[in-house]
Amino acid sequence: MQTVTTLPELRRACRALAAPVGFVPTMGYLHAGHISLAQRAKAECASVVASIFVNPTQFGPNEDLAKYPRDLPRDLALLESAGVDLVWTPTPESMYPVGYQTWVQVEWLTRGLEGDVRPGHFRGVTTVVAKLFNAVRPDKAYFGQKDAQQAAVIRQMVKDLDFPIDILVCPIVREADGLAMSSRNVYLNPAERRAATVLFRSLSAAKSAFDAGERNAETLRRLVREIVAGEPLAHLQYVSCADYDTLEELESVIGKTLLSMAVHLGKTRLIDNFVLG
Ligand code: PAJ
Repeated sequence: MQTVTTLPELRRACRALAAPVGFVPTMGYLHAGHISLAQRAKAECASVVASIFVNPTQFGPNEDLAKYPRDLPRDLALLESAGVDLVWTPTPESMYPVGYQTWVQVEWLTRGLEGDVRPGHFRGVTTVVAKLFNAVRPDKAYFGQKDAQQAAVIRQMVKDLDFPIDILVCPIVREADGLAMSSRNVYLNPAERRAATVLFRSLSAAKSAFDAGERNAETLRRLVREIVAGEPLAHLQYVSCADYDTLEELESVIGKTLLSMAVHLGKTRLIDNFVLG
């Protein structure tokens, strides 16, 4: 496995890769969720490129950019065992040099859910992913369903800007007790870690209600609210029951639906979702 930092090195290394090239963009501090994306890319592509870049432009002023966890040696070992061929670790200064002023913004899909509570977040995500795509020029790129709105926004960007890249979205990898794996789980103290199962528990309860025939979106949202309210350490930021494609809030669940939520546990913010229908 080769590791490169600068754009010229990356371009040179990419030219030597056999096609099709699969790409897994990450912010590092990797876990089994990230690795599942690399493994899927490995199974479907002749070469796999991963990037590790804690992208400053997708963090809000009061978010966790400075303390975002990092462990490059461990990340590289994990990517190597997953069979990744090339890892790109650009620096913030090279991605956003002084005078940087071009932004990629997807409009409608970034309204609602994460977009409402993290203003500017998706502008940072789409800008950096567009830059990563332009540098790596992959045939396929792999994203996690964990960040459902991000995957939808990237799909839209790729469609609107004619990137010749297939976007593949992979299932959420969870801990044994259902907690979705996240680099941010390390922030949780033991009590918060126990309370964090409330996301999976409340989504599961809503899914059981859906499976039993409940189609009223507000009833499903209320179920999630009630279960989170029963967990003193958890504070619900939002619960959404929205159309899977447009992300518009629903009154009744008819087609494919995204049930998603964000919760604060102490200083840590966690998100999770289930797809219904
Ligand atoms: P990061 O949070 O590091 O996640 C990288 C990729 O791993 C994303 O596509 C995310 O959805 C996926 N992922 C995270 N947890 C997962 C889990 N438990 N199961 C399956 N997939 C999971 O998302 C980002 O980085 C950034 O926004 C990025 C796209 C790299 C742009 O900076």
